Amino acid sequence: MSDEMQSEASLFDPLSVGQRKSRNRLFLAPMSVCYADSSGFVTDAQIEHYGRRALGGVGVVVTENFAVSPAGRQLPGQTNIWSDDHLPGLSRLAAEIKRHGALAIAQIVHAGRYAGPWGDYEAHPGLAPSAIPFPLQPGRIVTPIEISTKQIADAICAFANAARLAQLAGFDGVEIHGAQGFLISQFLSPRSNKRHDVWGGDPGRRSRFAREVLAAVRSAVTDDFIVGWHMLSDELMEGGYGLEDAKALACELQAGIDFLIPVAGTFEAFQQTENHGLMTRPAFQLESAIQIAQLLDIPVVANGNLGTAAHMAALIEKEGISAIGLARPLLSDPDWPRKVIEGREGEINRCNCQPPLCLQTQLSGVKCSAWPSAIQETGHYGYQDQ
Ligand SMILES: Cc1cc2nc3c(=O)[nH]c(=O)nc-3n(C[C@H](O)[C@H](O)[C@H](O)COP(=O)(O)O)c2cc1C
Repeated sequence: MSDEMQSEASLFDPLSVGQRKSRNRLFLAPMSVCYADSSGFVTDAQIEHYGRRALGGVGVVVTENFAVSPAGRQLPGQTNIWSDDHLPGLSRLAAEIKRHGALAIAQIVHAGRYAGPWGDYEAHPGLAPSAIPFPLQPGRIVTPIEISTKQIADAICAFANAARLAQLAGFDGVEIHGAQGFLISQFLSPRSNKRHDVWGGDPGRRSRFAREVLAAVRSAVTDDFIVGWHMLSDELMEGGYGLEDAKALACELQAGIDFLIPVAGTFEAFQQTENHGLMTRPAFQLESAIQIAQLLDIPVVANGNLGTAAHMAALIEKEGISAIGLARPLLSDPDWPRKVIEGREGEINRCNCQPPLCLQTQLSGVKCSAWPSAIQETGHYGYQDQ
């Protein structure tokens, strides 16, 4: 083992996640590649995409966000997880990830006010805690509908049903999407939640939806099924939900969750001038992950431009971080883990464009400019090079 490998070794230590074990400390962080068909069913391209990442050596594959209900669906190529009809494709997907030795986790989401299609949003607005106008896209202000008490109950049931289906499909767990500005984080934020009933008001009431979603999900699955949480660590907006709120919520939820990925910013925050290019800044959401990790006894996964493998290993050894989430690095090169463990870090194909091509191609299925040219033509990076 070379000296360099020695310093990266902790990335490859096994990790207990709930009652299951990951072979190493590397997670595929959720990334909406949008390879599902237009009705939200899993496709062969999608199965190959995730299977290839598992084959490359990552320990945990967290999928892109799957919509828990029609009202919670955002993107044209998004995967659905609300009916038995979705089970055959989801089962093939989970089996393919697990065949290559990774844990398979489905991220589940209700998009709330960001529900699509956006083309005729004004005619079919999304649901939100309060009917507050917001910038759906730069220069386009729209107004969502205030979600009713009955629709809140439906959304909670939809999360639980999605978790039940994920377990039936053979996934090792789910990750509840409580970040990025989707419905759960819309309830958490004092900017988007101005309700006067039990779902709004002080921080304890605004976090009630999060707590009830978690309780419903937990009761829909067995104890050995992993439940993770994608947590908004800071809304990055004036007067918004901040790191101290996130720390309090993390402490409150930790008894019910098996791992946590803290991430900063919402779609609205990303539109602010000061946040332009945020995702390309080094370690842009690391500090909040470290602060949250110091408070918790469950694995906390750090994500977002974390530098070299040696830098990542140092976070595990010195900062209380349990694992590293890689989204764009594994889209660009699924063999990232394999190349690092073999001392070939210099051979990794790196994400190198700005603004990222993956973000620009989401509506038609994500592409990456770092893929080898033969793979570019096929539109997804599966097993073509095997
Ligand atoms: C094209 C694209 C799609 C994404 N989709 C999701 C998603 O479905 N769910 C999620 O929680 N985060 C999503 N993210 C955020 C990533 O998980 C990750 O936080 C971000 O890319 C920074 O990490 P990285 O530097 O490893 O790419 C997405 C990011 C990109 C670029």
